[in-house]
Amino acid sequence: MSKSPGSLVESNKASQPKPTQKAFRRFLGLVFCALVAHTVYWSRSSLGDTAVATITKADRAAFLSKCANIHTPAGPPPSFSTATRIREGSDRWVPGTPATLLRNAKIWTGARNGTEVVYGDVLLDKGLIVAVGYIPPSLLAAAKTRGGGEVKVLDVAGKWITPGLVDLHSHIGVYSSPALNGISTIFDAQNIDGLNTHDASYELAMAGGVTTAQILPGSANNIGGQAFVIKLRPTAEKSATSKVIEPPLTLTHSANGTDYIRWRHMKHACGENPDRVYGQTRMDGQWNFRHAYDEARKIRDAQDAFCAKAVAGKWAALEAEGAEFPEELQWESLVDVLRGRVKLSIHCYEAVDLDGIVRLSNEFKFPVASFHHAGETYLVPDLLKKTWGGAPSIALFASNFRKKREAYRGSEFAPCILADHGIPVVMKSDHPVVNSRYLLFEAQQAHYYGLNPALALASVTSVPARAAGLGHRVGTIAEGYDADIVVWDSHPLTLGATPEQVYVDGIAQLSNPYPLQKPAAFQHLPETPNWDREKNNTVLWDGLPPLTGWKIGGHRGRVRLLNVKNLVGFNELSDHDELETVFDDSGKDKGRVVVIEDGRITCVQRPVDSCTSPFGGDDEVVLDLRGGSIGPGLTTYGSPLGLVEIRLEPSTNDGNVLDPLIGGDLPSILAKGGEKGLIRAADGLLFEGRNTLLAYRSGVTTAVTAPSGGGFLQGIATAFSVGAPHALAKGAVVQSETALHVSVSFTLPVSVSTQISALRSVLFAQDSEDNSAWRKVQEGEMPLVVSVESADAMATLLSLKYEYEETSGKTLKLTFAGGSEAHLIAKDIALAGVSVIVTSSRPYPGLWEQRRILPGPPLSESSNVLTLLDAGTALESNGTMSKAQALALATTNLHEALGVVRRRFSIPDLVLYEAGGPLDLQSKVVGVVSAERGVVEVF
Ligand SMILES: *[C@@H]1O[C@H](CO)[C@@H](O)[C@H](O)[C@H]1NC(C)=O
Ligand SMILES: *[C@@H]1O[C@H](CO)[C@@H](O)[C@H](O)[C@H]1NC(C)=O
Ligand SMILES: *[C@@H]1O[C@H](CO)[C@@H](O)[C@H](O)[C@H]1NC(C)=O
Ligand SMILES: *[C@@H]1O[C@H](CO)[C@@H](O)[C@H](O)[C@H]1NC(C)=O
Repeated sequence: MSKSPGSLVESNKASQPKPTQKAFRRFLGLVFCALVAHTVYWSRSSLGDTAVATITKADRAAFLSKCANIHTPAGPPPSFSTATRIREGSDRWVPGTPATLLRNAKIWTGARNGTEVVYGDVLLDKGLIVAVGYIPPSLLAAAKTRGGGEVKVLDVAGKWITPGLVDLHSHIGVYSSPALNGISTIFDAQNIDGLNTHDASYELAMAGGVTTAQILPGSANNIGGQAFVIKLRPTAEKSATSKVIEPPLTLTHSANGTDYIRWRHMKHACGENPDRVYGQTRMDGQWNFRHAYDEARKIRDAQDAFCAKAVAGKWAALEAEGAEFPEELQWESLVDVLRGRVKLSIHCYEAVDLDGIVRLSNEFKFPVASFHHAGETYLVPDLLKKTWGGAPSIALFASNFRKKREAYRGSEFAPCILADHGIPVVMKSDHPVVNSRYLLFEAQQAHYYGLNPALALASVTSVPARAAGLGHRVGTIAEGYDADIVVWDSHPLTLGATPEQVYVDGIAQLSNPYPLQKPAAFQHLPETPNWDREKNNTVLWDGLPPLTGWKIGGHRGRVRLLNVKNLVGFNELSDHDELETVFDDSGKDKGRVVVIEDGRITCVQRPVDSCTSPFGGDDEVVLDLRGGSIGPGLTTYGSPLGLVEIRLEPSTNDGNVLDPLIGGDLPSILAKGGEKGLIRAADGLLFEGRNTLLAYRSGVTTAVTAPSGGGFLQGIATAFSVGAPHALAKGAVVQSETALHVSVSFTLPVSVSTQISALRSVLFAQDSEDNSAWRKVQEGEMPLVVSVESADAMATLLSLKYEYEETSGKTLKLTFAGGSEAHLIAKDIALAGVSVIVTSSRPYPGLWEQRRILPGPPLSESSNVLTLLDAGTALESNGTMSKAQALALATTNLHEALGVVRRRFSIPDLVLYEAGGPLDLQSKVVGVVSAERGVVEVF
């Protein structure tokens, strides 16, 4: 680094830069210090500036070679995946890996825009796919000979195989799990320098079928630094660099990889993230970009002038000028962007920011490979097409929106809308924001919301591969491509599709997979609802379409539902909360007629002309559910629904509660009345937020929410009606006080032993006032819900429960929420009569206290939820769960654990599903029936 000329530009600056510019430069300084320059040096006759350099013959050759290099476009020659390469094998081949023949597969190749499906076999050898479909016997024989007689054969029995998934936006290894300060950072100048090779997520992501990921730096800087594309499998060398596919020369500086110029990768970010970190404005951000690119352009132009003279043989002129090849480490990679040799990923949400980048790309003439997050791209397709070099690929979340203002207009219809405009769509994880293991779920959701199935699969395979400049070797199943293949247990667009085996470079990654048994119907492409109306509305309303429904009730409020296949509701006669199947006509041709008046079911009959109205039908709204169903309104818990609208915008939220254990003494005004500063979520509820209404439109009618942002002491949770307009509306507050919530966590600034001690102290306190929540907990009248992840902390809490019960003679109603490690002590938890709310059914070892997850198939036979259900003996799961059991998990089981008690004679909300039920992908929620409010609300 110290040898590179001009790497510390700040030392030359006469005037002090403005603070924001300085911070920016300091970062850029860091960025480029980490790189090693490739300047060609020469011998000078003296160190004086005026001395004339002598360019030797060797120097001339070096300069000419350098000039040829910088003017060579990046990327492999068209012949890259030809027979020659197949014969030689992949550069990533691990000698000793046997050839593998996958037989009888339904092969989704990714070719022909994702429409090609081939039935047959695939032969993998020397890290490559050598034949697809029909395997010529000669090729098989050759593979056998090479492998010393051994070819592994896997008969996949007609199941689907796809290319290994490509995650275009991941922080695996640079935002590691479990997160520990020593090894976790997303703010790296050249992020390979911070890649943790021990991240638990590599194995987990591969178990979800992800084989390749672009590891991006964070978004705290406008120019966030260089990115790298890695394969997730472990390598024999165990180094970070050995994971990189086609590492560029600027990384390895080795003689290998000089056959063609490898693509480089880089991240930029605009909008709120860099602005927040540096306290800069959008104008500052755009100026940072223009200034940086202007510097790079000057160097590029100087290089071109130098090379023009060198090529013309004007060596004397170059000698007189000092014979120095113009180069600066700080701007070196941006010069390569201007030369079109870098795949640029730009984090950019809003139209105003996208516009800035499109102008920048045209001002400096460089292409953009992909826009990421890109919440508003679907609103400005014509702008995207004006990007220099053509519209970038757009890398999206399926449904993770609204955490900040610039993401507020994000839409689940964006993938479909962009595809309608011919713009390439990528679904990405931003791991660990979305767990990369479930990258395919992002594509499944995009498909559910209208993206055509071929493009949905391409969005996690061939399209991201191309966007990363690796479309010639990953993301497609074809001869000469890398042997990265996933064998799925069901059609990859069905919910829960899980790999049975994953190959990377021809090496099987699941040493002992636990396959799941799936019904035959799961081998077919799932049907999805029609969302044209919602999609059109989203564009019409600039991303914020109205979400409330049409309320039918009162005088002329009769609703006739046709073709209803089944009805599962709450048993109104039971004195406890339980689900009841009223009818199930699943096997039959046509369903029944159900009539609802004033929000109550008044008639269930068949055939179609039954349940006639006394007014001849004039008072009726008729809805055809097309074989759909009526199900119980679902309950949600675990998010701050109703208290938080835009998480990073404090003025849109209830705010954080004060915590006496962490923040010191509470203001005395809060401690009055004997509640010891307990805060009630019911007092901060915000209704008709977009998050609440979207949950409502998805069939969630009740939310149980605890006060937000506390440390140890959260406060008293509330149950409220998600579709209600305000707190005073009838039925809005289902139960104002449900349970007392606390957290026990190793991440809090006081010790876990202190937290337990505080809990013991309030439990055993003699001075709790009558009717206070603490007294109700002491008396066993109100549950104590403890958010806790660690099995050790849970074991301690169970001991505390026994200790309290022995001493007081009372029962402590204890519930654990979170529970990542609960499976380790499932039997003890069941024995103690404690409920566990698994808030993340998709386990992820994000924190040390969550590290001992039970990952579930294909990595383990059982999962956390099934282990807990088995231990509870309440349900016979046999490795699977019935639909009613699954629904109970999101309704009655949850109510019991959270202290939600149904009022006598109250009738909970029901949900109307068109063309299926709550657990089907082809169905869609079309309305909610509320007896409390006397309406049917139709969406
Ligand atoms: C793929 O789709 C693009 C855009 O719709 C089209 O231009 C191209 O011709 C298609 N290619 C194939 C092989 O169908
Ligand atoms: C270069 O590649 C060859 C063959 O792929 C390998 O044997 C050799 O070790 C590599 N050299 C370096 C310096 O990585
Ligand atoms: C949605 O918009 C498209 C294009 O304008 C139009 O063809 C289609 O009929 C609309 N569909 C609905 C259901 O509004
Ligand atoms: C459990 O599942 C297995 C495999 O699907 C089946 O053979 C067995 O009969 C099931 N047992 C029960 C009790 O349902």
